[in-house]
Amino acid sequence: MKHLNAVLYITFFTLFLVSCDESNSNDNEKQPVISGNVDLIDAHSYSNIHQIRTKHVHLELDVNFENKTIYGVARHEMIRLKDTDTAIFDINGPEIQKVTLGKKGHEKETDFIIGTNKKILGQPLSVKIDKNTKYINIYYKTTENAAALDWLEPSLTAGKEHPYLYTQGQAILTRTWIPSQCTPAIRITYSADVKVPSDLMAVMSATNPTKKSEDGKYHFEMDKPIPAYLIALAVGNLEYKKLGDHCGVYSEPEMIKDVAWEFTDLQKMITAAENLYGKYQWGQYDVIVLPYSFPFGGMENPRLTFANPTLIAGDRSAVSVIAHELAHSWSGNLVTNASWDDFWLNEGFTVYFENRIMEELYGKEKADMLALIEFQELQNEIEIFKKDGQEEDTHLKLGLKGRNPDDGMTSIAYVKGAFFLKTLERDCGRRRFDEFLNSYFKDHAFSTLTTEQFKAYLNKKLLEPNNIKFNVDEWLYKPGLPKNCYAITSPRFEKVQQIARDFAAGKDIFKQPKKKKGKKREPALTRDLYTPQEWQAFIRQLPKTISPERLALLDEKLKFKSWGNAEVATEWYVLGIKAGYKDIRPNMEKFLMKIGRRKFLLPIYTALSETPDDKKWAMNVYDKARNNYHPVSVMTVDELLEYRP
Ligand code: BES
Ligand code: ZN
Repeated sequence: MKHLNAVLYITFFTLFLVSCDESNSNDNEKQPVISGNVDLIDAHSYSNIHQIRTKHVHLELDVNFENKTIYGVARHEMIRLKDTDTAIFDINGPEIQKVTLGKKGHEKETDFIIGTNKKILGQPLSVKIDKNTKYINIYYKTTENAAALDWLEPSLTAGKEHPYLYTQGQAILTRTWIPSQCTPAIRITYSADVKVPSDLMAVMSATNPTKKSEDGKYHFEMDKPIPAYLIALAVGNLEYKKLGDHCGVYSEPEMIKDVAWEFTDLQKMITAAENLYGKYQWGQYDVIVLPYSFPFGGMENPRLTFANPTLIAGDRSAVSVIAHELAHSWSGNLVTNASWDDFWLNEGFTVYFENRIMEELYGKEKADMLALIEFQELQNEIEIFKKDGQEEDTHLKLGLKGRNPDDGMTSIAYVKGAFFLKTLERDCGRRRFDEFLNSYFKDHAFSTLTTEQFKAYLNKKLLEPNNIKFNVDEWLYKPGLPKNCYAITSPRFEKVQQIARDFAAGKDIFKQPKKKKGKKREPALTRDLYTPQEWQAFIRQLPKTISPERLALLDEKLKFKSWGNAEVATEWYVLGIKAGYKDIRPNMEKFLMKIGRRKFLLPIYTALSETPDDKKWAMNVYDKARNNYHPVSVMTVDELLEYRP
């Protein structure tokens, strides 16, 4: 770090003292940052956005695969709200080489201080500025501590010939590869000049190429203001296939045909979403299918959803994840949670919206089954929180100060949030509720919102005018599920659940049923008879005490353990572990070696850590698999297994 001149501005010096002091005192005593969004406090950012904030950032990035480093310049164009001699950014990992003030080519170096490092939050980068400073240029390189970055060896890609890099910014990882005011409370536009090896293509959450350039240079523009967590980059051997007027898919050439087939309904989904809640605001909508290490099912990077290859199930059974990420183009990307405590505003709305798209395209029966699968998970999670004395984590409005914002990624924000909206819909009527949501998205487009602002808007625009009494506060600020929660039933689930109970009771469910008088003869039970969601419901109905022999019989007939559908496979492995059914181990090992999606890793590794024998086996597999996962998954599983490398 550059040494400071002897003469320091008082505030600049004070800041330094504050940041030193912090490390010695209570970890939670961080000076809160107040944004323009009323008196919002984002406990997960050091940035002084209430004084000076980024309006636009231009990135110059040189992506070097040899030493797994991005050499970057982040050129911030600032807006000043108050008099200040300091601009504070968030960093967590990048090595800062120098900071300059002024337009490119007319720059002069300035002093900066990097405060004490805190786990999760990283460090404040305090830059000394002048009265008139408008441009701040931060020269940096990423380090191996960039938790947003997944650098993949060719062996971990579909083609096995080229390396791959992708980023994951949400929740607070953008600061690990771009020095930035890393808070959802403010929105910025961005542009980028990116240089990559000439045999690779680069794409971002911005305007994108559809062909490789000759020299490996790419230019990007995102001219709509977005929160920093939505800046994203992927670099690999990519191909593009157009699917509709303004939509298409990217993936490695080896998969592009399968990807295009799986997502054939993309255009229909966009149309359905627009019919529900207004025009799509981002121009283009593409999906990129990443390698297997991607820690999420999908990530709603604007204009370019990042998707997990487990969605390419070969039967279009996982397309609701695409409906989900598309829905974020309204809930999340257009109207953004102001802090991570308001995360349900992003995810609850999106799960609700996703389900409406699914209903539009595939009917209510299908949409209800999907919602019920999630609802069962919500009920389980609420039970666990209760048992662990963590009832506060079942409030929609969270209190994540001093914690990792990723802790908020539970069924509460997603499913309790969605069922809050489903319940409102039931009480207000669909027509009125849809009108309300339409104006909600219109009135708050390109801005951020707190739970409290949402509550005020809901009262004013929906509940009061229609004279509707609703227990809003109970939903937002109380634990568990309120009694008036909307209830779903699914006759198709009930049918497979009955079969599961019959099987558990020892019945032969594979015998062809006798023909009943006047009715068509029912077919014998095969896997094709039901959808993956129904099989999930079936597996969930089987008791944990079922014998391994009975599970082996199901595997013989239905081939669950080798099914390419990752949702069903996960369900099956978890039951198998609990029931002591060891035959799944070879398939489960292959699964764990290949797939890095946290949603699947977590339940499997959690179940495995319950007995010493399973845990030993799990440690052994994890030891080999860990290198194949993204840092986000590694952090979670390390903690879960108490793994020390
Ligand atoms: N935005 C989330 C992923 C996320 C949340 C990443 C918080 C980091 C921090 C994304 O939209 C998401 O919810 N993905 C889900 C999809 C699902 C609910 C359909 C996933 O990955 O499982
Ligand atoms: Zn989401």
